[in-house]
Amino acid sequence: MRKRAILVMGMSILTIVSALIIEDVNVRSAEAQSRGSQAKTYSAPVKYDPPSREEAPPNIREAVITGYNIMNHTRHYAGEYDGNVMNCSNCHFKEGSYRGGKNGGISLVGVNTQYPKYSKEAGGVIDLASRINACFERNMNGKPLPPDSKLMVGLIAYFQWISKGLPAYGKIPWLGLKELRSAYRPNVDSGFTVFKTICATCHGGDGMGTKIAPPLWGNESFSDGSQMTNIGTLAAFVHNNMPYRVANLTKKQAIDVAAFILSHPRAHYPK
Ligand code: HEC
Ligand code: HEC
Repeated sequence: MRKRAILVMGMSILTIVSALIIEDVNVRSAEAQSRGSQAKTYSAPVKYDPPSREEAPPNIREAVITGYNIMNHTRHYAGEYDGNVMNCSNCHFKEGSYRGGKNGGISLVGVNTQYPKYSKEAGGVIDLASRINACFERNMNGKPLPPDSKLMVGLIAYFQWISKGLPAYGKIPWLGLKELRSAYRPNVDSGFTVFKTICATCHGGDGMGTKIAPPLWGNESFSDGSQMTNIGTLAAFVHNNMPYRVANLTKKQAIDVAAFILSHPRAHYPK
């Protein structure tokens, strides 16, 4: 009797111990696997090769072209939801199809592979339509597109098309604008000098835009709820992209002129 009880106890201890060991092995192999897949993402760099809109298959081509058109002529194609003269392409150059980095604007090639995505600001996971609408509301000073509208479906089809072949949640190195961080304290007066001598020819002496370049402040520019009103973001954009096609400002010049731009009034984001 007692002998059997000890034996049963011994066996159950053995079962518990071995279960613990197996669990530990599973955890460790899962860790190893995730390390392995991360290593794979890094060692196999993704290729930047967005297809043109004309190459889209006939059954989605119209949607892709709708998205492309909204990027380029936002007011014309999405006027009801657009509140200023800016186009999406003014910041996402060449309809977001450029590679980002120097003279590349803010790329959107591969953007759909990163969504749904955690957003610190929203305090949760958001989908691509919500991110698009954040730009409509904050940068175009407009209204959100209904998620099932032809316009939203077109934009998502367009982003999906230019992201063709890129892996879901892969590491896409050209996405995102890295904030320009610096211990340097901006000088608005030096920023004015940069503006006057370099930017005004295209953006206008009053900063309100011209036929060749969009406004930098005032009601027709991005609102005070835009990410561009973060000086590190604006300075990074300017440092990477301005003057247009010949981005050659020093970091200090970019920070100074960003501070100068942000010292002017702009439309108020109500939320
Ligand atoms: C040669 C003309 C030219 C010069 C000079 C120039 N820009 Fe621009 N800038 C443009 C154009 C054109 C765009 C829009 C690009 C597009 O739509 O593809 C633009 C876009 C921008 C944008 C994003 C859209 C907006 O209006 O907010 C900012 C910010 C900007 N420029 C800041 C500057 C600053 C600061 C300078 C001076 C250091 C400068 N630019 C000099 C032509 C110019
Ligand atoms: C005044 C500049 C500006 C304009 C105009 C603008 N955006 Fe943006 N957009 C940004 C900035 C800044 C970001 C954030 C980039 C980052 O976080 O790296 C962004 C991010 C995005 C993203 C997410 C990118 C990512 O990597 O997650 C999408 C999608 C997007 N914009 C679409 C649009 C669309 C569509 C329009 C036109 C309706 C538009 N944007 C107009 C500045 C602009």
